[in-house]
Amino acid sequence: MPSLTIALLGATGNVGGHYARQALEAGHALRALARTVTKLTIAEHPSVTTIQGDATSPDDVAQVVDGADVVASCVGNPNRSLHIMEATANNVLAAAVRQPDPPRCIFISTIGVGGSSWLIGAILRIIGRDPAGFADYEAADLRIRDEKTVPVTLVRPYALTDKPGTGCYRATTKSPIHFARPIARADVASFLLDATTNPQWDGPNGIQVTGA
Ligand SMILES: NC(=O)c1ccc[n+]([C@@H]2O[C@H](COP(=O)([O-])OP(=O)(O)OC[C@H]3O[C@@H](n4cnc5c(N)ncnc54)[C@H](OP(=O)(O)O)[C@@H]3O)[C@@H](O)[C@H]2O)c1
Repeated sequence: MPSLTIALLGATGNVGGHYARQALEAGHALRALARTVTKLTIAEHPSVTTIQGDATSPDDVAQVVDGADVVASCVGNPNRSLHIMEATANNVLAAAVRQPDPPRCIFISTIGVGGSSWLIGAILRIIGRDPAGFADYEAADLRIRDEKTVPVTLVRPYALTDKPGTGCYRATTKSPIHFARPIARADVASFLLDATTNPQWDGPNGIQVTGA
């Protein structure tokens, strides 16, 4: 597999950090967008280009997507207090479609949206301090599923843990999934990296990824 140039959003985060390390170990080059580049632990790697910017800025996202073979968005809004998911999806897809050869785009969403689990969706709406934050995830998920030009992969992980990765996980487009094993963030990153080089998961159906 030839090395790819991957535009990565969210590399300072937990899943994004695992993904960045795994992608570099696999020989790929990264264009990493970060609000605070000093938080990027991979910044000094010779295959990393850092771009300071915000995923809600169309210009910043266009800069990181320019020339990429694949885009991976690991941005998140865990406490649902910021509404960044729909804007990020819009910006990534708008930038991708302007490329001469639009890159495949891979996005993290969450279990519970897009009909993947009405039960978990209801729980997240109830326990979330900001219902609009959950609605932002739903809007992003819908925008990605509606994309007609750019190849997309939409990943909806089950509950995340910080346990070491096992390399074992389940991925399915079947839904709903209400009860499953949590998945290590490192294993979500492994799935994302597999999807980076393997288009088998591309399409309008979200992929539920859980522990094995
Ligand atoms: N917790 C769970 O059980 C669970 C389950 C399923 C799915 N998920 C979802 O999985 C995703 C990844 O989770 P995680 O644990 O890796 O999240 P995380 O550690 O909080 O990482 C979030 C990343 O998003 C970046 N980000 C936030 N706002 C941004 C903006 N405006 N511009 C650019 N970057 C921005 C953060 O950058 P900064 O360093 O600048 O803040 C950080 O790199 C999240 O969407 C989460 O909701 C979580």
